[in-house]
Amino acid sequence: MPTAARRSSPVVAIDGPSGAGKSSVSRGVAKALGYRYLDTGAMYRAVTWWMLRHDVDIHDAAQVAAHAALPQIETGTNPANPTITVDGLDVSGPIRGRDVTAAVSPVAAVPAVRARLVEIQRQAIGNGDIVVEGRDIGSVVVPDAELKVYLTAAPEARAARRTAELSDPAIAADEVSLHTTLHTTKESLLHRDSIDSSRSTSPLTRAEGAVEVDSTDMSLNEVVEHVVALFRSRVSAGATS
Ligand code: DC
Repeated sequence: MPTAARRSSPVVAIDGPSGAGKSSVSRGVAKALGYRYLDTGAMYRAVTWWMLRHDVDIHDAAQVAAHAALPQIETGTNPANPTITVDGLDVSGPIRGRDVTAAVSPVAAVPAVRARLVEIQRQAIGNGDIVVEGRDIGSVVVPDAELKVYLTAAPEARAARRTAELSDPAIAADEVSLHTTLHTTKESLLHRDSIDSSRSTSPLTRAEGAVEVDSTDMSLNEVVEHVVALFRSRVSAGATS
């Protein structure tokens, strides 16, 4: 895998397990800083959607790897309007569906998929001025990010938030119907976390130098303000001193 390119502007890397609030926090921080925003989880979901649509057996790593170069993924970086297309088709709704959520962890564990997406991610990151969320951003994609945050929360809090998200009418109806209880949601989160944390390529981990933020007892605004304050003290202050 090629190393990260030289940048002229900062990158904020936000990693952590499912349901810790990474998307809302990352978008909030990007808006507050006037930065772009990249949701790398959406890219793994988009590849998974393509694999399912093309009848690729997602539990056959060799088959997934053989198809890894085929989906054409385009992702927007506007935090007010994140977009994602596969082969020119808007998949922002379908990638949140139950079938994709259940299949994404095994697909994301395939090294050929990761290598391809990391390359696209580094192109999108370009010169910086961007908040990037995922599982391996601070450890692999941008190990020299100016601010790395490892965002976590107790499993119960993560399940409660994810359940509330699923009840949002904007989320695909089929996902709502299959994740009706907190218990089911929590089990599903923990199952994905265990696959994401135990895979051999780029497992979910707290990157070296990452600041751990436990959002269990914090509101979204409090977490956003906390991360922006970390940025101001560690990055903008460093740039002017
Ligand atoms: O953040 P999310 O739930 O949309 O992520 C979907 C899946 O993609 C999740 O199982 C972990 C995986 N993922 C990854 O392996 N590396 C990333 N940088 C982002 C997501």
